Amino acid sequence: MDQNDDKAFIRKFSGIILGLIALTVVLIFLARSMMFESDIDANPSQGVMTEKRISPVSDVRVGEEGAAALAQAQAASAPAVVEITAAEVDGEQVYKGLCFSCHDAGVAGAPISGSEAMAIRVGEKGIDSVVASAINGLNVMPPRGGNPSLSDEEIRAAVEFMVK
Ligand code: HEC
Repeated sequence: MDQNDDKAFIRKFSGIILGLIALTVVLIFLARSMMFESDIDANPSQGVMTEKRISPVSDVRVGEEGAAALAQAQAASAPAVVEITAAEVDGEQVYKGLCFSCHDAGVAGAPISGSEAMAIRVGEKGIDSVVASAINGLNVMPPRGGNPSLSDEEIRAAVEFMVK
């Protein structure tokens, strides 16, 4: 190998290196332009959503505007009082919402709704007594059928529906 060979080699070699550097730069710009595109595709409501997530839970309002807002909020959060009178209670609805799950098929020995067994119980104990056991529970029969939010009136209406 003489010196000319070395020079030729170095020229070629640096040519390749330069080519690779140019390729790297091209790839970097390509990648950046793709990143820019995906930015455009980003969810346009992203900003609003972020704003919502980091916004404070409560606001402080003062003066007349504050008093009005407070009154409005209190009115909105006041529990709605629902007066249920006996006449409005729908026994069938209560039964079909819960009691049927055991009393249609006689699960765990539950007297089947509308059956003779049901009628005999009511006949022997009296309606008040079977209503009381439906309210308080009886062996496997859970108190109020398992829904403590049912009122006495609703239980009574359901029982009356069951013996019809
Ligand atoms: C998890 C099943 C189940 C559900 C739900 C259920 N019951 Fe019962 N119920 C029973 C069983 C079991 C008995 C029989 C209990 C016994 O005599 O030992 C029974 C008995 C009764 C009796 C007869 C009580 C007595 O004194 O003989 C009445 C009335 C009654 N259920 C009403 C209802 C009403 C009304 C509902 C719905 C609000 C309801 N049940 C929901 C299982 C259930």
